[in-house]
This record gives sequence, structure tokens and C-alpha cells, in this order.
Amino acid sequence: MTEYIIETRNLSFRYNEASPFILKDVNLKISRGEAIGIVGLSGSGKSTLINVINGIIPKRINGIIEGDVIINNENINSKELHELVTTIGTVFQDPDCQILFSCAEDEMAFAPENLCFERLEIFDRIEEVCSFLDIGRLRDKNPNNMSGGEKQLIAIASVLTPDVDILILDECMSQIDERGKVLIRNTVKKLKEQGKTIIMIEHDFSNLKIADNIYLLNSGKLSEFNGELK
Ligand SMILES: Nc1ncnc2c1ncn2[C@@H]1O[C@H](COP(=O)(O)OP(=O)(O)OP(=O)(O)O)[C@@H](O)[C@H]1O
Ligand SMILES: [Mg+2]
Repeated sequence: MTEYIIETRNLSFRYNEASPFILKDVNLKISRGEAIGIVGLSGSGKSTLINVINGIIPKRINGIIEGDVIINNENINSKELHELVTTIGTVFQDPDCQILFSCAEDEMAFAPENLCFERLEIFDRIEEVCSFLDIGRLRDKNPNNMSGGEKQLIAIASVLTPDVDILILDECMSQIDERGKVLIRNTVKKLKEQGKTIIMIEHDFSNLKIADNIYLLNSGKLSEFNGELK
């Protein structure tokens, strides 16, 4: 048994036999309720790392994984992607690529519907998430007509409806204006206070103020980042 909610053990990764190692011996340990930041240059493998943690690699994108990813004391290679969706929610950079429906509520219902939640349970989950994130006003609106920040709120709400413990945010504030960033930062802070475990990939350190620990990915190696925060 491990005390950590997420643990990678000697994790190495390359996309194929011919490609270089993108991750080399990564040992990341995240405690329940912890918020961590991952920084690194473009192309350093940050998105690759989180996609190995959330199972998208190798379930949707092929690659060669060495080492282990342990979540809630279970090796994720024994899990199906739909099982992982109830544990980890991932929000990407561009909400337009993530949001499928023209009504926010349909978007929020999508994951639990796919997971065969009962009708009433889906409704309760949407109610709870909308009230927690304070987005009741957006519930029946079309995400296409929302601001970038509001769209990201809907994307966050949609991965929270299956009641995940872990939230991964992959540069989710990079395409929104300052007002949107404030909205998302406050929301992430609230989710941390609620006990969610949070992984944030960020270029902008001002979005990482809530992080308990920050790691740097460089040449495939992960190390603690002790640089000054601006
Ligand atoms: N599906 C793929 N197949 C092959 N190589 C890939 C694939 N996806 C990413 N790569 C390569 O892996 C390396 C790491 O990419 P990744 O997207 O993980 O970096 P990143 O740190 O998230 O960059 P950014 O900050 O620009 O988002 C890059 O060299 C990229 O070209
Ligand atoms: Mg990336």
C-alpha cells in the first residue's frame, strides 16, 4: 500500500521503437488533496506525461511504456479508460476541441450517461457541480456563445460530473483572457479546498500559486522546481 493517490514508478516512455524517450525514469508521487504544477519547455513531454497518467496513452494513443502508474493503489494497466474517467478528469488547452454539445447541460451529462449512471443520479450530479462551481446561469446556454473562461468552466464541470478525485488541467488557461483566468484560478482553488487532487501544466507561474509543489520536466527527467515564482 502506498499513501499516495498517484505514483509513477520508474516511468519511461517513447511513442515508438524509433522515437527518442520522451520520459525517462519519472518517479512522481502525489498525495491525496495535493495540487502540483508541472512546468517545462514546449515539447518537453508535459502533455505526454499526463496522458500516460490518465490512460489516454496507451488506450487511445499508442506508445511504449516502461515502469508503472499506480492510482489509488492500483496499476492502471489493469483498468479500462471508462473506469479511469470516474477517477481522473482532464481538461485541455482548447475548450472548443473538448466541448461537443450546443447546450452546457448536455455536455455535463455526457460522461455520466456514457458510464450508465441512473437518470436521477446524473441530474443530481449536474445540480451539485453547477452549484459548487456557481454556473447555474450557464446551464442551459450554448457554450459557443460563452467567453473562453466560461467555456473552460463548462469543460471542468463536464469532467467533474462523474465525481472524479483527480483533476488534470493541461494549460487550460492559455487561451483565455485575464478575467477568465481569475474565474478559473478561483475555481481550481475551490476544488483544491474541496479535497480534489490537482495536476496543473502551466507556462504562467501566476496560475500556479495554489500549487503545493512544482516539478520541472527537462530532457525527459522530472525534478523538483525550486526557481523563484514571479
Ligand atoms: N502522438 C505523438 N506521436 C509521436 N510523437 C509525439 C506525439 N505527441 C507528441 N509527440 C512528441 O513528443 C514530444 C513531447 O510532446 P508533448 O506534447 O508531450 O510536449 P509538451 O511539453 O506538452 O509541449 P507543449 O508545452 O508545447 O504543450 C514532442 O517532441 C512531440 O513532438
Ligand atoms: Mg502540452
